[in-house]
Amino acid sequence: MKNIVILISGRGSNMEALIAARDAGQLPVNIAAVISNRPDAKGLETASQAGIATRCLDHKAYAGREAFDAALAECIDAFAPDLVVLAGFMRILTADFVRHYEGRLFNIHPSLLPSFPGLHTHQRALDEGVRIHGCTVHFVTAELDHGPVVIQAAVPVLDGDDEDSLSARVLRQEHRIYPQAVRWFAEGRLRLENGRVRVSGEMAESAALVVPELR
Ligand code: GRF
Repeated sequence: MKNIVILISGRGSNMEALIAARDAGQLPVNIAAVISNRPDAKGLETASQAGIATRCLDHKAYAGREAFDAALAECIDAFAPDLVVLAGFMRILTADFVRHYEGRLFNIHPSLLPSFPGLHTHQRALDEGVRIHGCTVHFVTAELDHGPVVIQAAVPVLDGDDEDSLSARVLRQEHRIYPQAVRWFAEGRLRLENGRVRVSGEMAESAALVVPELR
């Protein structure tokens, strides 16, 4: 069974979705550890209650980005993961770190990339007046919120939406597509070809685009 390590910075609801999928027998992975860069991350408590090893490396205790990322990689590698899963990990990663985990580092981002990389994606979607918004799981590359797309889910932007209602609609889909993406990885069904992801298996192409709530 594949080993995964999950990195968080806060609430950890995506991490919880992964744990729940594993517990439901839908995600055949060993969650070896959950690591946070913030000691007060609520998700750390959730993970340890679920019996998962937790570690905290407070980035403020390190001289700079390189030093922190080197320590983080050492901490991660002690668990020998096949895949590292960024789940609300709010740090910009160094190129060395990203290179070290090339092809085995996932991120989830709350927009339909390449639209709205960076922060405040829901408010920016509202400000732009887009009618479709969503979330993306992608392989991480050195460029922030870029990299080969594994799966996306789309949701409508409704007239009465505010940041809260829109982010809640997107989050429901995040919790759906992240376990799916990790499962494909664990089953060896993902292939990177010229910077694009190919998913093998029946219905894979349509499954990589989730459009649940569009009218
Ligand atoms: C999610 O919206 C995720 O896409 C983004 O940060 C948020 C983390 O939420 N990268 P949680 O900690 O998983 O609840």
